[in-house]
Amino acid sequence: MKLGCCYYPEHWPETNWDNDAAHMREMGLELVRIGEFAWSRMEPQQGQYDWDWLDHAIESLAKAGLKIILGTPTATPPKWLVDGMPDMIAIDEKGHPRTFGSRRHYCFSHMPYRQECARIAQAMAERYGKHDAIISWQIDNEYGCHDTVLSYSVAALSRFRDWLSIKYDTIDNLNTAWGNVFWSMEYQSFNTIDLPNLTVTESNPAHMLDYRRFASDEVVSFHKIQTDIIKKYSSSRTIIHNFMGFFTDFDHHKVGADLDIATWDSYPLGFLEMFPFSDEQKNEYARQGHPDIAAFHHDLYRGCSHKWGVMEQQPGPVNWAHHNPAPLNGMVRLWTIEAMAHDAEFCSYFRWRQVPFAQEQMHAGLLRSDGAEAQGAIEARQAAKDIAILYEAGDIQNAQKLKSQTIALHFSYEAQWLFETQPHGKSFQYLWLVFEHYSALRRLGLNVDIISEDADLEGYAMVIIPSMPIIKDSFMTKIKALNIPILFGPRSGSKTKDFSIPKNLAPGPLQQLIDIKVTHIESLREGLHYFGTSRQGDDFRIDHWLEHISGSAEIVEQCHEGNAILCHQDNIYYCTAWPYEALLHNIFIDLLKLTNIKPIILPEGLRLRRKDGLIYIFNYGRKMVDLGNVHEAWEDGDYILGQENLASAQIAIIAEK
Ligand code: GAL
Repeated sequence: MKLGCCYYPEHWPETNWDNDAAHMREMGLELVRIGEFAWSRMEPQQGQYDWDWLDHAIESLAKAGLKIILGTPTATPPKWLVDGMPDMIAIDEKGHPRTFGSRRHYCFSHMPYRQECARIAQAMAERYGKHDAIISWQIDNEYGCHDTVLSYSVAALSRFRDWLSIKYDTIDNLNTAWGNVFWSMEYQSFNTIDLPNLTVTESNPAHMLDYRRFASDEVVSFHKIQTDIIKKYSSSRTIIHNFMGFFTDFDHHKVGADLDIATWDSYPLGFLEMFPFSDEQKNEYARQGHPDIAAFHHDLYRGCSHKWGVMEQQPGPVNWAHHNPAPLNGMVRLWTIEAMAHDAEFCSYFRWRQVPFAQEQMHAGLLRSDGAEAQGAIEARQAAKDIAILYEAGDIQNAQKLKSQTIALHFSYEAQWLFETQPHGKSFQYLWLVFEHYSALRRLGLNVDIISEDADLEGYAMVIIPSMPIIKDSFMTKIKALNIPILFGPRSGSKTKDFSIPKNLAPGPLQQLIDIKVTHIESLREGLHYFGTSRQGDDFRIDHWLEHISGSAEIVEQCHEGNAILCHQDNIYYCTAWPYEALLHNIFIDLLKLTNIKPIILPEGLRLRRKDGLIYIFNYGRKMVDLGNVHEAWEDGDYILGQENLASAQIAIIAEK
C-alpha cells in the first residue's frame, strides 16, 4: 500500500510547489492527487485553455518522484459554462434549482453538459495522457455528494421517459407492471409520465423505484463517457472514482464495473457524528470513529471493483459535521494501517495543507495553513515506516487460504432504494440492518467480504443476506448449488421485480428451499418489542420488525409469545425479525459451529483483520486492552508491531503461526 495526499497547487503560490513536493516525498508519500476542482483555471473562458500552470505543477511533483492521480474537474463546472447553459443545473424534489456557488451544480441527464465534460476530459487526456508521472485518472469527484443524484429537471424527465419506453416497450406493459389501475393512475403514452415528485401523497412505489433505478443508470452512463475517453488517450493508466461513506443513491457495483480501482473518502469522525449512531456511541467514539465505519466501507468497496483504495483519509478535524472533534493521537496512523489490513492499494490524506480561505478553511490538513506539520503529518510518517515493516513480515502465500474462513455479506443498492421507498416502519433502514450484521460479525474477529448478488459465492464459509426483497432466479440457482450455511433476513423475497407482493407471498422464491410462508408482518415503534431467550440461554429483544410465519421448517429460536424468530431447512436459515445485538451474536455463534471457523469474542472497541499471515489488531476503545486472550485463542506467533497491552488508538500486529 502506498501513501499519498490530495493537493491543490492552484491554491498556493507557484514558488511553494517544489518545496511542497519535496516535503511530501520526505514524509514518505508516493502519490498525489491533483486537478479535480480546477476547471476555472484550466479553461478560464470557453475554449481558451490555460495549461501552463498545470504543466508546471505536474513537473514540480514529478521531479520530486511523486506519481500523480489526475482528476477531471467535472464536479465544478465554471460560471461561464453554467451561465451559457442555465438548464444544466439539477432541480431538487421541491422543484428548486440547485444553483452555482459551491460544487456539483449539474444534472447527470443534461446532454450538452455531458458533451462539455467529454470535451474537457479529452483536452486533458490528450495533453497529459502519456505523461510518465500520471499513473491514474480520477473521474469527477464523489458522484452524488450533497444529494445530487436525483434531479427533477426537464432533462431528467425526458430521459426517464425514454428509459421507461425501452424497459417496458408498451404503455400497457408499464401500466400493468406498476399497477396503475389503482387510483386511476393509468397512462396513455410514455410522453405523459411525470417524475415522481410533487405528488399529493406518496407516489406509486413502482414508479419511484424505477426512477431510482433510472437515476442510478444516469450516473453509470455519465461516468462511462469520460472513462471511454481516458482509455482511448491514456491507455494503461488506471481509472478511479472516489465514493463516499454511507451513501447509496446509485449502484456502486455498476460504476465499479467501469473502474480499475474503486476508492472512497474516509472521514470516520464526521460519519459517526452525522449518521444514526446512538448518543452513547457518539460520545464513546467521538475521537476514534465507530470501530466498524472505516472497515465496513473498505470491505464494501473492495467488492465493487478489481482493486480499491482510500482516496481521502481524514487527517485531523473535518469542517462539515455537527461537531468536529480532533482524532485521538494515534488514530490517523491506525486508520491508515487498517486500510492496509483490508488490502488497500493506497491511502491518500485529504488534504496536504489546510486552506485558509473559502468553504473548507476549518478542515485540517497534514500541514497547518502556515505550513507547519500538524499531528496528521507526524502519524503519516509513522505509518510509512510501519508499512515497510509489514511488507517485510507479511506472507503473501497465505492470502489465498483465507476465503474458506471468510464470511460473504450481501449488500444491494436496489434493496436500499426499495426500502427507502416503502419502509413500512420508520425505523426499518436497510443500510443499518446490513451494518449491524457486519458489526456483529466483526465483533467475532471475522474477515468479511461485502458482496453483490453477482459475486462468486463458492469457497466462502457462510453467506449472510440481511435482506433481499427481490430474489432473482439467477441468485436462486447460485444458492441451490451451495451447501454452506446461508442466512436470509426479514423481508427477503417479499417483492417481485415490479414491486408487488409475490403470488405465493414472502419469502417468494425462497419457498423452494425452505417451507415457510409469511402470513402477516408488524413494524414496531420505539419501545414496542418482542422478547425471547435464545438456545444459549441469553435474553434477546426484537426491535423494528417481526414477521409471523407458517410452514414446516424447523424452528431454532422463538420469542416468549411463541413466534418463530429463526428457522431452517437444511442449510437455509431464515430470520423473521430485525435481530438485535444479542440475538445476532447468538445466531452467528451457532452458525459458525457448522463451519471451520473458530470465532473469538473481542473486547469492546477491539477489531482485527487477518491478511497475508498477519493479524492486524486495532484498539478503537478508550481503554487499554490485554491481548492475551486473542493471542492464546489462535496460538499465534510474535508481535511484529505493538504489544500485549494495547493502549487506546494503538495497533498491534501479530504473525500467525
Ligand atoms: C470530500 C470531498 C473533498 C472535501 C472533503 C472534506 O467529501 O471529496 O473535496 O470536500 O470531503 O472532508
